[in-house]
Amino acid sequence: MARRKLIAGNWKMNGHLDHLRELHGIDKAAKAHPQVDVAICPPATLIAPAVARVPGLAIGAQDCHGADKGAHTGCLSAAMLKEAGAHHVIVGHSERRADQGETDADVRGKAEAAHRHGLTAIVCVGETEVERDAGDAEVVVTSQVAGSVPSGATADWLVIAYEPVWAIGTGRVPTLEDVAAMHAAIRAKLTEMIGDEAENVRILYGGSMNGDNAADLLAVDNVDGGLVGGASLSADKFIPIVEAGAALA
Ligand code: 13P
Repeated sequence: MARRKLIAGNWKMNGHLDHLRELHGIDKAAKAHPQVDVAICPPATLIAPAVARVPGLAIGAQDCHGADKGAHTGCLSAAMLKEAGAHHVIVGHSERRADQGETDADVRGKAEAAHRHGLTAIVCVGETEVERDAGDAEVVVTSQVAGSVPSGATADWLVIAYEPVWAIGTGRVPTLEDVAAMHAAIRAKLTEMIGDEAENVRILYGGSMNGDNAADLLAVDNVDGGLVGGASLSADKFIPIVEAGAALA
């Protein structure tokens, strides 16, 4: 089955209300290219205003708690994000694994919470540069997949994002051969876990994707879209990536 490409933007901790103006151009590009899925994950405070500004564009969150409610000061539940209008939630981004010490078990709990509340979970995995240099990248990443993906996951609510930590925000990207090898390894691990359904699960690449390299990266086998940081902050930079995905569909 052909997997629809998903081009998702992760604004991280960037953007205020005035930044939502960028969404109009992105929304227009998404409508002009209905053969690809487009999503933007702004800071949580901007989810509801973003949905109000561009009701047709899929808006997502960048994290959720694994519990539905409780004494977790400062955290947001998947149900709250859903109520704010989110369609997706990124879980287990390497910045959270590093800064907040999130474990695979935490990430799996968050993905399960997302599913309970009707959100698509974008589960992030990726090796550090030390791990790649040691030749451990595939072992590290497939073990993150094994630990972070809920059992029984299906493609209608699970997306994987492979983001090598050393490629995030650095302008460096892996070779296309390395991307192909890792995406194939991730799919093989998913097949062990969820059987034939693994064929339907989208595996995004993330890490310094931009308008210049997107066409090549998105054409790699088993690359079903992109998770874009810096280049998603402006419509001018993000739209060429959407177009590159659309051209391959
Ligand atoms: P950059 O595209 O800025 O490298 O960030 C990638 C990323 O971390 C998306 O989640």
